[in-house]
Amino acid sequence: MDRQLAHGPPSERAIGALERDLTEELAPEIEALRGVPFFEDLTPEDLRRIATIGERRTFGAGEPIVTKDSVGGGLYVILSGTATVEAGGKVHRLGPGQFFGEMALLARRPRSATVTAEETVEALTLEATYFRPFLIKNPSVAVTILEGVAERLREVQDRVAREHAGTGSGEPS
Ligand code: CMP
Repeated sequence: MDRQLAHGPPSERAIGALERDLTEELAPEIEALRGVPFFEDLTPEDLRRIATIGERRTFGAGEPIVTKDSVGGGLYVILSGTATVEAGGKVHRLGPGQFFGEMALLARRPRSATVTAEETVEALTLEATYFRPFLIKNPSVAVTILEGVAERLREVQDRVAREHAGTGSGEPS
């Protein structure tokens, strides 16, 4: 009987033990994610799922994390440290809890800008293949990303409008 079981499907108890092991192994990742506002609406189970599919990576000061025009790669959520991105003629600083890399994934286009670690950056990366299914399963994260994209677009629009007004090349009023 025991032998038969050994070759059969794993028992619920065995699955439970494996899950407990995995949760213990992932405890530091889950703890790090719990402090990220970006993920604040997620349940402990969701956080565990992200810790399972995400990869924690560290980048040294001055190191490019994503490079303009490059293809592929995932979404990054900064866990610690700061990174800079030059977009629309302005340098933006991104810090803990902020994300980047969503544009290439959403538009299925090459990277729109280079993002560089200003100081050591620890980031959670979600690979492109997981990105869309992840957003569909976690609408609160999808809305947070939408808000971020709208905010970034708005900042560039306002700046372009100010520049046009300054040079007198805007639309006549
Ligand atoms: P992506 O195009 O994948 O790679 C470069 C990233 O820089 C981009 O996604 C955004 O996450 C980020 N980025 C682009 N423009 C801005 C901006 N104006 N402000 C902040 N971040 C930006």
